[in-house]
Amino acid sequence: MSKFSIINLNAAGQATPSNSVVKAQCDYLHQEQMIGGYWFAEQQSEHWQQLYELIAQLLNCQTSQVSLQDSATRGLQLSLLSIPWQQGDEVVVTQQEYGANWVPLLQLQQRYDLTIHCLGNRDGAPDFSQLKQLVTERTRLVMVTWVGSHNGSVADLGAMTDQLTGFDGYVIIDACQGMRQRALDVSQVRCDFVVATGRKFLRAPRGTGFLYTSDRVLEAGLYPLVTDHVAANLLSCDRWSLRSDARRFECWEANWASRMGLKVALMELLANPEQVYQTLAQISLECRERLSRVPGVELRDTGNDLSAIITFQHQHRSAAQLHQYLRSEGIETSISQSDAGPMDFAQRQLSQLNRVSPHIYTTEQDIDQLISRLSDA
Ligand SMILES: Cc1ncc(COP(=O)(O)O)c(C=O)c1O
Repeated sequence: MSKFSIINLNAAGQATPSNSVVKAQCDYLHQEQMIGGYWFAEQQSEHWQQLYELIAQLLNCQTSQVSLQDSATRGLQLSLLSIPWQQGDEVVVTQQEYGANWVPLLQLQQRYDLTIHCLGNRDGAPDFSQLKQLVTERTRLVMVTWVGSHNGSVADLGAMTDQLTGFDGYVIIDACQGMRQRALDVSQVRCDFVVATGRKFLRAPRGTGFLYTSDRVLEAGLYPLVTDHVAANLLSCDRWSLRSDARRFECWEANWASRMGLKVALMELLANPEQVYQTLAQISLECRERLSRVPGVELRDTGNDLSAIITFQHQHRSAAQLHQYLRSEGIETSISQSDAGPMDFAQRQLSQLNRVSPHIYTTEQDIDQLISRLSDA
C-alpha cells in the first residue's frame, strides 16, 4: 500500500496533492480565521504575483496573459463568451473533445447558427492534415483537446500549428489533462486561449485553474460578454474601462487558500519539470504494459503518442462492477462515460471505459496491487 490511505490511480480525475500543497492551503485558512480574509490576502500580495509568474513560466508567456480560474470549464466558457461570433460562423473541433467543451458549442450553435466540423482521426489521433479542407474564411474557431480524457491520446499541436498558417480565427486549446504530463510552450503553438485545471495532473487543490489569452485577444479588446467591476474599472456611475491585461477574465472573489495551494504545486513542478515528465512517462508506460498482459483486460487507448491516461475494458466485468470492486480493495480508478468524449465514443460505439491514471507518486507496489486485483476479477 502506498503512503496514502488509498492507492490513487485517478490522477486524471483528481491527483493526490503533496503534503506541502495541503499544508499551504490549511495554513492559509487558519490565517484567514486569525486576522480575516481581506487583511491576510493583502499581506500575501507577493505570493499572488509569484503565482502569475509561475504560470507564465510554465507556459512561456507573459504574466499579463494569465488569468486565474476555478476550473478548465470556466476558462473555456469565458473564452467562448469573448469570441465575436457572427451568424453562420464555422467551428472546427477534434473527435476527442470533452463533453463540457461540446455542450457550450451546441448552445452557441443554436444562437448563431454555427456549422461545426469534426476532424477525423488518423491512426487513432486527430488528423490535422484535414484542417486545410475544413478551415474556410467563415471559420471563427478551431478547438483542440490536447490530451483526451477518455482515450489516452495526445494531439500533435505542432502539426496543428503547421496547418494553421494564415488562419485569422481563434484557437482554443484544452490543456486540462496535459499540464504536468508534458511541456506546453504557447510561443511555439498557434493558440489564442489555453485552459487548464489545477486538481488533475498538476496536483493542485480543487477549484483552481487558469487561462492563457494571446496578445491578439487582449489587443482586440475581447472580454467575456460581461465582467465585474474589477475586470473593468468603474470610472463613474455610467463609465467603465476594461483592464488591459488578462485579468479581465477574472472575478474579484476567489478561493485564496486554494490559490496558495496551486502556487505550491506549480513550484514543485517547476523545480524540475523534465524529471516530472520523464518519471510520469515511465510509470505510465509500465502500468499500460502490465495492464495489457492481464487476462480479460483489453486496452482501449487510441493513437501512437499516449499519455498517462490508460483506458480499458474487462471481458467479464462491466466498467461499474470493476470500478466498485477496485474501490472495495482500496484502489481508486475511474470510469470514462460517453460524455467524456461524446464524438469519439459514438464513433467507436462505446458507452463506458475503465480508466487508470497513475502519477509520479505511484509505486511499483501500487501497480502490483492493481494487477493482482485485476487478475482475480
Ligand atoms: C479533457 C478535459 N477537458 C476539460 C475538463 C473539465 O475540467 P474541469 O472539471 O476542471 O472544468 C476535463 C475534466 O475531466 C477534461 O478531462
